Amino acid sequence: TELMNRVPVVWIELQDCAGNSEALLRSSAPTVDDLIFDVLSLEFHETIMAASGHQADAQLEDAIEHFKGKYLLFVEGAIPTAMNGQYGTIGASGETFQEHLERLSKDAAAVVAVGTCATFGGIPAAAPNPTGAVGVMNIVKGKPVINIPACPANPANMVGVVLHYVLTGQIPELDSLLRPKFAFGYRIHDNCERRAHFDAGEFVEEWGDHGAQNNFCLYKVGCKGPMTFNNCSIIRYNEGANWPVGVGRGCIGCSEPDFWDKYAYERPM
Ligand code: SF4
Ligand code: F3S
Repeated sequence: TELMNRVPVVWIELQDCAGNSEALLRSSAPTVDDLIFDVLSLEFHETIMAASGHQADAQLEDAIEHFKGKYLLFVEGAIPTAMNGQYGTIGASGETFQEHLERLSKDAAAVVAVGTCATFGGIPAAAPNPTGAVGVMNIVKGKPVINIPACPANPANMVGVVLHYVLTGQIPELDSLLRPKFAFGYRIHDNCERRAHFDAGEFVEEWGDHGAQNNFCLYKVGCKGPMTFNNCSIIRYNEGANWPVGVGRGCIGCSEPDFWDKYAYERPM
């Protein structure tokens, strides 16, 4: 017997690189196959689905009609607002990304913005932001919006939100930036494996020096872990294989608002 009803998911891509889709494909607990067969029903996903062209358009329209008020709308990528949204159009109708998002969010149960572009504008919104890119919460009003930032968003956090919704019928508790507290309630720095070196004043001073060879703290070569709220230091990426600090280059604050302009990879002043 099925433990739970599978939740219908419609996943759209706007100004994106498909990095969050790639991350989802690497979900390990549960694996993406278990996820797609047992937990959610992926009704539409441009990158993964077999259909293309008009068939794909039709599949999307069928899904939002059939699962009206019930589907979770996952959004990957920013929304261009400059030039009346003409920087991004989609489908045969030439609908702009903004119109597309507004229309599809209308009958969604909730909207989940995955990745830093969909949450806060991300790289497309970096100065001088020629396309006027913004995140989902700037466009979608009157619907619950859940933000799962990071570049890419960690699949464990996407799965966490879906499972919470499936098991309780509700969205998880969110912070003031609409991020689930279970994932974004503490800083990278709070749980970092190099923290003892920070506390002992042992820093990498130059790439490749004695400190770098001994996994000292990366703060002086630009680590933004003390300012970044995320759980990468606990769950890591790629089935727990590794994460930015683990490979010795530090955190660049990829899940923070204004990432790129504010947290470019610079040394502290
Ligand atoms: Fe903090 Fe970064 Fe140092 Fe880790 S490497 S202790 S996150 S400053
Ligand atoms: Fe991003 Fe920093 Fe995690 S760069 S992936 S938030 S360690």
